[in-house]
Amino acid sequence: MMARKLHLALFVTQAGSHLAGWRHPQAELGTALDIRYYQRLAEQAEAAKLDMLFVADKLALDDIHGGNFDAAVTWRPNGSPEPLALLSALSVLTSRIGLGATISTSYHAPFHVARQFATLDHFSHGRAAWNAVTSVNDGEARNFGFDQHLGHAERYAKAEEFLDVVRSLWDTWADDALLLDKSSGRYANASKIRYAEHQGKHFEVRGPLNLPRPPQGHPVLIQAGVSSAFQALAARNAEVIFPVQSTLEKAKAFYREFKQQVAAAGRSGEAVKVLPGLYPIIADTDEQAQALATELDALVLPIAGLTFMSASMNYDLAQHDPKAPVPDIREHIRGSKGRFDVVIGNAIEAGWSLEQLGRWYASSLAFAKFIGSPQTVADQIQQWFDEHAADGFVVMPPYMPGGAERFLQQVVPELQQRGIFRTEYQGSTLRDHLGLEKPQRTGAEHRHAALRRGQPS
Ligand SMILES: Cc1cc2nc3c(=O)[nH]c(=O)nc-3n(C[C@H](O)[C@H](O)[C@H](O)COP(=O)(O)O)c2cc1C
Repeated sequence: MMARKLHLALFVTQAGSHLAGWRHPQAELGTALDIRYYQRLAEQAEAAKLDMLFVADKLALDDIHGGNFDAAVTWRPNGSPEPLALLSALSVLTSRIGLGATISTSYHAPFHVARQFATLDHFSHGRAAWNAVTSVNDGEARNFGFDQHLGHAERYAKAEEFLDVVRSLWDTWADDALLLDKSSGRYANASKIRYAEHQGKHFEVRGPLNLPRPPQGHPVLIQAGVSSAFQALAARNAEVIFPVQSTLEKAKAFYREFKQQVAAAGRSGEAVKVLPGLYPIIADTDEQAQALATELDALVLPIAGLTFMSASMNYDLAQHDPKAPVPDIREHIRGSKGRFDVVIGNAIEAGWSLEQLGRWYASSLAFAKFIGSPQTVADQIQQWFDEHAADGFVVMPPYMPGGAERFLQQVVPELQQRGIFRTEYQGSTLRDHLGLEKPQRTGAEHRHAALRRGQPS
C-alpha cells in the first residue's frame, strides 16, 4: 500500500483569517483587488508544492448584527474579488497548483455553475475544485429576491439535487466527443453528446452543457461544515471536506465517524480527504510565537467576533447585553448550525460573557490554532496526520501575506524533510495531487447505483 501523504490547501485572503490580523503591523493593506498580490501568493504556494489554493465566498456584506454593517467594517477591509474571476486569472499565472472556490448551491443555477467550473477546469488543464456550500444568512437571501434564507434541511435537500444536476451536465459530453475533423466537416461527434434531462423538485434542466467534458471528468467537489445534515450529504458526495475542529481528540472522533459514514454510503474512505481548517501562528521560537498570538489577540475588538458570529449564525446577537453571560440561543440558530451549537454550548459551560466569547471567536473562528516555531507547528501537523485526525489541512494564516510566507517557506520544508509532504508534484491535475480517481461518465440513472457499489460517481 502507498504511504499516506499529507494534503495542504491555502485559504487565500488579503486580510488574514484572524479578525484583527489586518491590523497587525506586518499586515499588508490595499491590495485586496490587486491581481499581482494574488499572483505572488499563488507562485509561493506552488513553489511549496501545495495541493490547492482555496477562495471562500459570501454573497453579502455582514449586516445581521444590529441590522446594519457598522460593526462589520471593524473586522475586515471590504472588497473580496469574485472567486471564479480570480481563479481564471490565476489559472494562467500558475501551472500545477489546484484552484478551488466556493459557489453557493442556494443562490446560483446549476447550469451556470457546471459551466463555470468546466471552463476553469479546461483553462487550468484539470486543476479546478468547487466548494459547494449552502450559504448562511438572510443578508444573502435578500440579494437574490428572497426575505429569508432557506431552512437548514431544505437547503441541504436542494444542495443534493444541485450536485446531481451539475455532475450530470459535466457528463453530457463523452471525453472523446470532440472530433475537430476538417476533412469530414464534423467538429464533434453528436452521438457522444446527450441531454441531461433532469427533472426534480428544485430544478428542471435539459442540457447538454455547451462545452466539452472537463479534463478531470468532474472538477473536485469540496464541502465545508460540521452539522449532521452536512455530514450525510458530504459522505455521499464530497471528495474533500473542510470541517471545523479545535482539539485533537474531537478531530479524531469526527474523522473516524465521518469515514464510517463514507463507508456506509458505499464509498472507499480514501475517496474523501478530510482537511480541517488550521490557524498557524509561527515565529522563530515558541516564545516569540506565543508573543505574536498575544499581540494579535490584543488587537481584537470583541464586536468583530460577535458581528461575524451573528452573520454566520443568522441570529442577531446585538439584542443581548455584551457584558451578560452568553444566552442559550442554540435553538434559534438558522445559519451555520453545526459549528455554533458547539461554540455556544462551550461558552455557556465556561461561564463566559458575550464579550469574552466575541474576543475568543475573533482570535480563532473555532479552528485549531498551532502556535510555535516552524518545528513545533510541523510537530502538531504531523501528530494530527499520524493519529488520523486529518488527511491534511486548509491553512488559514492569521495575517497576510507574512503569515502565509512563514508557513510556506518554513513549515512546509520541515514537513518535506520528514517525508510526509511532497517535494515535487507527481501528476498534473488536482485529482492527481489528491490521489482521487477520475470519475467515469455515467448516466444519471446509473450514478446512485455506482455510488452504492463504491465507485466514484
Ligand atoms: C474551511 C471552511 C471554509 C468555508 N468556506 C465557506 C464559504 O466560502 N462560504 C460559506 O458560505 N460558508 C463557508 N464555510 C462555512 C460552512 O459552509 C458552514 O459551516 C456551513 O454553513 C455548514 O453549516 P452546518 O455545519 O450547519 O451544516 C466554510 C467553512 C469552513 C470550515
